[in-house]
Amino acid sequence: MGKLYDLHWQMPVDPAKLKKTAPFKVKSVEPVHLVSRARRRTALQRAHYNIFNLRSRDVYIDLLTDSGTGAMSQEQWAALMMGDEAYAGSVSFDLLRETVRDLFGFEHVLPAHQGRSAELVLMSHFVSKGKTVPGNLHFDTTSAHIFFQGGRIREFPQKRIFDLDDTSVFKGDIDLDRFSAYLAGHAGRVPLVIITATCNSGGGQPVSMANIREVGRLCRKYHIPLFVDSARIMENAYFIRTYEPGYSRRSIRSILRELYSHVTGMIMSAKKDGLVNIGGLIATNDGKLYDALKQYTILFDGFLTYGGLAGRDLAAVATGLREGADLDYLRFRVSQTAYLAARLHQQGIRVMLPPGGHAVYVDGLAFCPHLHWQQYPGQALTLALYLEGGVRACEIGTILRGRDPRTGRDRFNGLDLVRLAIPRRVYSFDQLDYVVSVLDRLHRKSERIRGVVITKEPKALRHFTARFALS
Ligand SMILES: Cc1ncc(COP(=O)(O)O)c(C=O)c1O
Repeated sequence: MGKLYDLHWQMPVDPAKLKKTAPFKVKSVEPVHLVSRARRRTALQRAHYNIFNLRSRDVYIDLLTDSGTGAMSQEQWAALMMGDEAYAGSVSFDLLRETVRDLFGFEHVLPAHQGRSAELVLMSHFVSKGKTVPGNLHFDTTSAHIFFQGGRIREFPQKRIFDLDDTSVFKGDIDLDRFSAYLAGHAGRVPLVIITATCNSGGGQPVSMANIREVGRLCRKYHIPLFVDSARIMENAYFIRTYEPGYSRRSIRSILRELYSHVTGMIMSAKKDGLVNIGGLIATNDGKLYDALKQYTILFDGFLTYGGLAGRDLAAVATGLREGADLDYLRFRVSQTAYLAARLHQQGIRVMLPPGGHAVYVDGLAFCPHLHWQQYPGQALTLALYLEGGVRACEIGTILRGRDPRTGRDRFNGLDLVRLAIPRRVYSFDQLDYVVSVLDRLHRKSERIRGVVITKEPKALRHFTARFALS
């Protein structure tokens, strides 16, 4: 894993070496403005200190999420015009199904309007009271859907995923020792296993082919279906190609075909690596399972050939999936996160290393050493970042993780991160430099960042709608 590994991940590294020339040029322009500090302050108050309540016109650089925020290509816009809006038997669905068969090797495809509706379909079939769904680290909507069906989660991350300074790759791998020991004792209560690749709740860290192969083998041994949450599977395949021995000459498609040959199926929010603003899917080669899932798709998302999407959306997903697997695009994509992480690291700001594919995670606890974790330093830094420079980021920490349903206590795991998610094909390196300069300014006066208290909180997915006040 020699040289490339050093170039990308061993910090400090010269950020200039990470800059890649974009494999596209700009055709359509969306203006952005930095509103005044006074207006930003008022905007925060009106938003009850929850950045999800901010109006996007008050945001200068929006790094809230990489989900549904990417720029579509001219081919995708052209595909929209060709969308077939037939209720049943849409040609656009055929196009999507052919793309999924070709890229991923799955025969049966169910469209879904986004990732969480695919989760609803899957969990409605598999999960009930008394069942437990293991994984590396589930994304929050995945956990919420498991809880919603009365199930529990059991996570087997590598310990090193919580060590921000451990620069080894594939920190998204499942801890095989703990996982296999668990299956040996509890396979009966496990309806399915989910690997999230890359692992969003763990910093966007990739999962290795070797790990997926072994988890697949264990699941087959116990007759347990294995699904891959594939929101960022292209980035994951790119990491496998770059860092896993034996894959450096393989195409992304052939890596994906191999990866999915080890598992039962995939669920995907296409709003990330599918390069669309809305869309998702479920795919499998198991005909019986497909028949069982179909009824839920019809119940929740609509007929089998549209699944909650317009025909034009299906066409855009089909085109976006192919573009998402393009190597030049992926090189550029991953160089943006590597660059941002390297520059922040250079400024003495603690970030998760190595950076994942879609985002850079800043350590809120290290940034605000004067705050206790119960003052939610990740959330506090997110608010300060917006006030300082109009940059919207997202807390990925105690607020996001929510409360343990059994104890009612905050699920603190020693980390309180702020995610700077980079939308696909949207921002330039100059705009990333601006983000670095704002964080650097803030870092120099971080003792002025105020902690946060929760003033109102919903039962599930609290980060979206909770209200806060400064303490
Ligand atoms: C890994 C992962 N799974 C599932 C989802 C849910 O997808 P959606 O937002 O399309 O419902 C997300 C969204 O960010 C995600 O990152």
